[in-house]
Amino acid sequence: MEERLQKYLAESGIASRRKCEEYILQGKVKVNGKTVTELGTKVNPQEDKIEFEGKEVNNQQKNVYILLNKPIGYVTTVDDQFGRDTVLNLVKVKERIVPVGRLDMYTSGALILTNDGDFVYKVTHPKHEITKTYTVTVKGIIQKDEVEQLRKGVKIEESPENNSINHNKNGKNTKTESYITKPAKVKILKTDEEKDISRLEITIHEGKNRQVRKMCEAVGRKVLALHRIKIGDIGVKDLELGKWRYLKQYEVNKILNGNIQIK
Ligand code: URA
Repeated sequence: MEERLQKYLAESGIASRRKCEEYILQGKVKVNGKTVTELGTKVNPQEDKIEFEGKEVNNQQKNVYILLNKPIGYVTTVDDQFGRDTVLNLVKVKERIVPVGRLDMYTSGALILTNDGDFVYKVTHPKHEITKTYTVTVKGIIQKDEVEQLRKGVKIEESPENNSINHNKNGKNTKTESYITKPAKVKILKTDEEKDISRLEITIHEGKNRQVRKMCEAVGRKVLALHRIKIGDIGVKDLELGKWRYLKQYEVNKILNGNIQIK
């Protein structure tokens, strides 16, 4: 049966559908020996030979879903142009996996990696609204009105092309845009007058670039440490930093089906 080339590539675990479109436009994909740069191209995987970067693509391989407790100091990318350590240095599997969304180099915690491009697409799409829960240590003693602002939504600046979730982003726009964050759950876990720090738990269901850091900065708080404890209700407290495990099928289904909205 015929299907669109980018859909076939995503299902084969190359990357998200959007990224596969970029790969096609960049001339990295061949069909029956010929480079194809046309996004509407249809293929018949039973008959056509499809290659990505010179290697034949087959989508018979099993999908894997991995939960990593990312330590700080690793970049969330497949290949870093500056030669820094990437999260893939921590997860050695034979499948061609990619991170689902992103954690900053200096953020630790829960990160999913998979070879299922459709999963990446669905889970990172804004309409999926999966919750992500962070513990954040900020400088100073947080005030009630600051917590209220964080709960209701604060104004942050974002560069469209730098957004970790690249749906509906096009062109090379370098301007930043203002954005009001959606309601978040915010709990004060601890305040320490002596050390002059506060620890918060923040749950959001968006994925703007450096969103939690920018939210805290918007209420005048410098972030000292940021750790993602949970994606949906899948947490990393039983995984040491730098360790990973396979997700169970029911956990994958829960992520796909259990989008929890914050009221
Ligand atoms: N928010 C941030 O500021 N950084 C992350 O890595 C994730 C969410």
